[in-house]
Amino acid sequence: MYDNPLMKRDAVTKEVKISARGCQVFYGDTHAIKDVDVDIEDKTVTAFIGPSGCGKSTFLRCLNRMNDTIDICRVEGTITLDGEDIYDPKVDPVQLRAKVGMVFQKPNPFPKSIYDNVAYGPKIHGMARTRAELDEIVERALRRGALWDEVKDRLDAPGTGLSGGQQQRLCIARAVATEPEVLLMDEPCSALDPIATAQVEELIDELREQYSVVIVTHSMQQAARVSQKTAFFHLGNLVEFGETGQIFTNPHDPRTESYITGRIG
Ligand SMILES: Nc1ncnc2c1ncn2[C@@H]1O[C@H](COP(=O)(O)OP(=O)(O)OP(=O)(O)O)[C@@H](O)[C@H]1O
Ligand SMILES: [Mg+2]
Repeated sequence: MYDNPLMKRDAVTKEVKISARGCQVFYGDTHAIKDVDVDIEDKTVTAFIGPSGCGKSTFLRCLNRMNDTIDICRVEGTITLDGEDIYDPKVDPVQLRAKVGMVFQKPNPFPKSIYDNVAYGPKIHGMARTRAELDEIVERALRRGALWDEVKDRLDAPGTGLSGGQQQRLCIARAVATEPEVLLMDEPCSALDPIATAQVEELIDELREQYSVVIVTHSMQQAARVSQKTAFFHLGNLVEFGETGQIFTNPHDPRTESYITGRIG
């Protein structure tokens, strides 16, 4: 039976990294996420798509407890990382966010040098004992952020002095510097021009070798280019989740079809 090629394909199915069950999110009386169940795989890019206000950012923020910082926000249900409940009172959200890093829509480097932007997290988390070790971490992160060659001669220059696309790659380098396992990206290219977007997309494809990446995007072309799995949200519901190719060529739900053919959203 192990010679069956379908079985082999099953055998390479990626491990589940993050799992949500019965996830509900409320902002006061607004029910923003409704009973979402999803398994996010390791070493895979998962795209969240759907019309504005459908809950993509809200659900993304559940995955590293970023919603904790919003007073009126209440999250219910279970979300696990490698089988461990991330909402368990024993979990330190700061430690969690080092493991589940986040990149935002607008590049937001700290008002510090390029070096210090990347070194900040590793310093807080005590990842380096010496300056030489910290230098190594910074270089490795900037290389992973596909930015090293452009900034290696000006590490002391302010991060805010870089171009928008460079700033976003700096933010990605900053996120990977703490050796995360998951990277959450909320419309990471929406403030970038087409060339910078292409660079960041290429980088996302490389990051997939090592991380589980979840990207929110308004661009269906981008979702199709960078992701292997796609989740379509509508009015707080996860309407459809599957292989990106299937979602775009053969959606099972009429709401997904309407969205991808441009009838809603
Ligand atoms: N901080 C907040 N306080 C109150 N309501 C909020 C807050 N953030 C989001 N919401 C509401 O929750 C719902 C989902 O919003 P969310 O930002 O998650 O949507 P989205 O899919 O990311 O939209 P967009 O594509 O425009 O970014 C919306 O009705 C929104 O108004
Ligand atoms: Mg959003």
